[in-house]
Amino acid sequence: MLQGKSIIVGITGSVAAYKTLDLVKRLRNEGASVSVIMTASAQRFITPLSMQIASQGTIYNDMFEHPLSHVSLPAAADLFIISPASANIIGKYANAIADDMLSTTLLAYSGTVILAPAMNWRMYENPILRKQLDYLISLGIKTVGPEKGSLACGEEGIGRMADTGAIMESVYTVMTPQDLNSERVLITAGPTREHLDPVRFISNRSSGKMGYALARNAKVRGADVTLISGPVSLDAPYGVEMVRVETASEMHEAVLEKASTSSILVMCAAVSDFAPEKVETHKIEKTESMTLNLRKNPDILSAVAKLQKKPFTVGFSAESGNRIDRARQKMESKHADMIVFNDILKKDAGFDSDANEVTILDRKGEKTLPRMSKDDVAAEIFDRVVELKKI
Ligand code: C5P
Repeated sequence: MLQGKSIIVGITGSVAAYKTLDLVKRLRNEGASVSVIMTASAQRFITPLSMQIASQGTIYNDMFEHPLSHVSLPAAADLFIISPASANIIGKYANAIADDMLSTTLLAYSGTVILAPAMNWRMYENPILRKQLDYLISLGIKTVGPEKGSLACGEEGIGRMADTGAIMESVYTVMTPQDLNSERVLITAGPTREHLDPVRFISNRSSGKMGYALARNAKVRGADVTLISGPVSLDAPYGVEMVRVETASEMHEAVLEKASTSSILVMCAAVSDFAPEKVETHKIEKTESMTLNLRKNPDILSAVAKLQKKPFTVGFSAESGNRIDRARQKMESKHADMIVFNDILKKDAGFDSDANEVTILDRKGEKTLPRMSKDDVAAEIFDRVVELKKI
């Protein structure tokens, strides 16, 4: 996502400085080239050598060792991140003080800046610091964190630096056009479980990866996102409202509760089509054979279609074989605005994989995409949603 982007990472003196090693590696893994500037105090917490290895670039610590870098570095940068941002750099930045390499370069930069504040809660809650931070925010400077939790000094409070995942999400957000910023997006993900007895259930192979990728993509494009998730072992996407459910009927209820106030619904979950007619309260005893009586679960997409205030709906259609015809039929029968088709017989795509190979169908046409990461599929789906909503 950051291919060809040039990012300056400024590190100030906080015990959280070590976390920036991981941030720099993640930025590089996404294709960015990273220049690091460390203050004198930052170098007490983490060595320039470690940062040099992580960034694979020059470390700029001394104004006089790298004359004019405070002008050439910012001129070529797409983004400036200060991680961690101490009270000192916040105060200096808000007052246009330029007394070392970092503060001088920051002042010479006119692009997007993200601050990840980290300090003791007394400092963070000091009205002087808050006023300076609010002033920077009013000028368009972005902030991420800090979080509440146990601080390095042993106290509890607000001041922990945001974790790397959260900083990466804010990087993606500032680097992505905010074309979903007026949308409320509801996404379902993962499998459902239909219980037979206290220990057994019927479920399916869905990992939730596609739905979670959709939630992340909608979030970085500025949407207000709710993710209704079946049981999966994935981390909640940063800044997304989570609703955890287990059964299809819980998912049905959760979707109907939120659908009317959402502008886009993406039903990515692999909802169980059937549920046992009866859930036994005791463990079913072993017999030579047994017959399960199943009843059909309500179809959630079709129920949404009947709502008076219905969101733009996207369904998924996982079929055995190249059955685009079935996917198109589903779009009609479920009154969806768009259907994402995938062939479950294709190798290394779809269920539990990090990649997917899909065709996006809608009322204006269809687009077959090559095999790509689920993050890229998610981006393609929302690109098309944005296009169709404009028509
Ligand atoms: O009919 P089929 O289960 O293949 O349809 C798949 C699409 O319908 C998916 O978008 C899925 O989330 C949705 N679905 C639903 N309610 C169900 C079963 C599937 O909304 N009970």
